[in-house]
Amino acid sequence: MKKVYVGMGTDLVHHGHINIIEVARDLGDVTVGLLSDKAVSKFSRMPFLSYDERKKILENLKGVKDVIPQNTLDYEENLRSIKPDYVVHGDDWKTGPQKHIRERVIELLKEWGGELVEPEYTSGISSTGLRNALKEVGTTPDIRRRLLRRLIESKDIVRVLEAHNGISGLIVEETTYEAEGEIREFDALWVSSLTDSTAKGKPDTEYVDRTSRFQTINDILDVTTKPIILDGDTGGVTEHFAMLVKNLDRLGISAVIIEDKVGLKRNSLFGTEVKQELDTIEGFCEKINAGKKAQMTDDFMIIARLESLIADQGMEDALTRAKAYIEAGADAIMIHSRHKDGEEIMEFMRRYNEFDFKVPVVSVPSSYNHFTEEELVEAGFSIVIYANHLLRAAFPAMKKTAETILKNKRSMEAAKEFCMPIKEILTILPN
Ligand code: SPV
Ligand code: MG
Repeated sequence: MKKVYVGMGTDLVHHGHINIIEVARDLGDVTVGLLSDKAVSKFSRMPFLSYDERKKILENLKGVKDVIPQNTLDYEENLRSIKPDYVVHGDDWKTGPQKHIRERVIELLKEWGGELVEPEYTSGISSTGLRNALKEVGTTPDIRRRLLRRLIESKDIVRVLEAHNGISGLIVEETTYEAEGEIREFDALWVSSLTDSTAKGKPDTEYVDRTSRFQTINDILDVTTKPIILDGDTGGVTEHFAMLVKNLDRLGISAVIIEDKVGLKRNSLFGTEVKQELDTIEGFCEKINAGKKAQMTDDFMIIARLESLIADQGMEDALTRAKAYIEAGADAIMIHSRHKDGEEIMEFMRRYNEFDFKVPVVSVPSSYNHFTEEELVEAGFSIVIYANHLLRAAFPAMKKTAETILKNKRSMEAAKEFCMPIKEILTILPN
């Protein structure tokens, strides 16, 4: 039998894929190279189903002999090890971002006399279209919750943006930017205490209570499919934190970040201008531990946020606490800093990288915002949270609009300068 290789990534198998498999199986024994989460995440949104689930589906298709992982977009590694007589792929990749991958496949096949077979692309159906349709149907708590761990495992850095209501959630969900052969988007949403409170005209002091925070979360859950990280403030008293974890886990939230402060919580960016009292190490470890015991799924994450640098308690305190919180069961840590130069954050990471036992580290570069994502990866961060930017952008635009109406005693100027057309606002929302 001739050897046939087909590369595939999707979890939404449709008759277009079956058309490819039909052509392939007529040519010989079909091996499907199934793109790993890591490979898919380089060019598209994470599939709803995990690698193993996608593998199970493909293995059971008629004519598929074997399914093996393809760990890169490039076919080279698998093609060299299999040396197939044929590679089968829809002819849609002759143009567009996959063009250079195709050219490389042709070159490689030449080395052993293999051939590229390109059945006509099945029109009228696409995984992207199905994916969008599925988004309208929604997701499930289980699928959404576990996405964060899959993203951390697959991506150099998980990119997270703040949302404080449905509309900002939609922006995080939908915004994409195409550049350098990739489609960039945000991977997850941060439900910030600062912006949730500010949007309600309230201080960021844990005054906005749980019921209200859950309402915001629900509004965001309603219109998005991406994973959510909740800013859990101090987590409250230990007993309440355990109950919060159960609740979040059930809703399909992926992670909660709690900070090691006690007393009246003040926003970290105030620094030492206000009283910022740290919890004892024992007290906070107990809280982490109670949370870990309370969660029902293995996917939910508890992230311990270190406020030592915010409260001017020093680097040694931050490092000691990081070690202790990891030992207490924290799935990740967040190190916070309000200094613009980013020196203390980089110093922390240099020392942290020498730890024997490490967990992923979250950065919140609101102050040290000159670092690029590449530089954060280089320093050892796994997650970047843009913590407050949509609200900070919206507020001045709203204020300017209000002032311009007052100035002109009519809305024409404001509408022209600052507002989107009414028709657009009517159609921006999904049906
Ligand atoms: C938030 O977004 O509410 C945070 C991050 O906790 S910060 O405001 O920088 O403290
Ligand atoms: Mg906060």
